[in-house]
Amino acid sequence: MTQLHIEALDWALLERGQPPRPLLQGVDLRVEQGEFVGLIGPNGSGKTSLLRCAYRANEPAEGRVRLGGDDLWQRSARWSAQRIAVVLQEFPDAFGLSVGDIVAMGRAPHKGLFDGDTAEDARQVAQALAQVGLGGEGERAFASLSGGEKQRVLLARALVQTPQLLLLDEPTNHLDPRYQLELLQHLRGLGLSILASFHDLNLAAAFCDRLYVIDGGRIVACGTPQQVLTPALLLQVFGVEALVDPHPLHPYPRITWITRT
Ligand SMILES: Nc1ncnc2c1ncn2[C@@H]1O[C@H](COP(=O)(O)OP(=O)(O)OP(=O)(O)O)[C@@H](O)[C@H]1O
Ligand SMILES: [Mg+2]
Repeated sequence: MTQLHIEALDWALLERGQPPRPLLQGVDLRVEQGEFVGLIGPNGSGKTSLLRCAYRANEPAEGRVRLGGDDLWQRSARWSAQRIAVVLQEFPDAFGLSVGDIVAMGRAPHKGLFDGDTAEDARQVAQALAQVGLGGEGERAFASLSGGEKQRVLLARALVQTPQLLLLDEPTNHLDPRYQLELLQHLRGLGLSILASFHDLNLAAAFCDRLYVIDGGRIVACGTPQQVLTPALLLQVFGVEALVDPHPLHPYPRITWITRT
């Protein structure tokens, strides 16, 4: 079943006193149930803008964004928040909040306005923190954590949201190699439908079922990592020559950027 279906989407930036600036054009993208899909492309190509369209933050000028067949813009923001969790590039300004407070925010879409935190909420928060390797750290001040630890707290917040679809903007940013691998292995093991942007193409090749390549606000290629990650495409999109060979240990391609000194 198709979980996320973005269809013929155009999105333009609307700024007061300025004509609309088209930033995404004719985007078609699908994430099937349980699929881990990667979004790759150069800086400024539109990855974050497209992810924002997928969670109802950027309203399309044209086209549709459907979750399990429902048009997001025919549903409420709360309806989306009950089904879609997001981990963004930037960290929230969490002055004075503990790690546990931040993670507990992920329960909010499932609660009434005046509902307090229940024992079940506390259990889910503790479980999610343990899942991201931060078990027992709930009392610490969020502001005191390293970038990588903050990233993992935000993933825990997304997990307690119990989403159908998880959107991640460069999830391995800030993480050391061990946590990059642990996080992506963990995400794969969840069996959730995932759309994540990546700059590290070797990580994208290792963990994604399929990749979409975006350049200048348009999808220019999609398919399995083997189909998509060719030297010609990498040169066209990133402007860098690459050696692409079969990974010596795994059934996916390995990319080596060629530097000329
Ligand atoms: N709110 C905004 N105000 C001004 N420009 C914007 C806004 N949102 C997006 N843009 C512009 O749209 C283009 C695409 O931006 P976007 O953040 O989607 O790129 P990206 O692929 O995520 O880049 P990066 O790899 O650097 O994260 C950029 O030129 C950016 O400056
Ligand atoms: Mg971005």
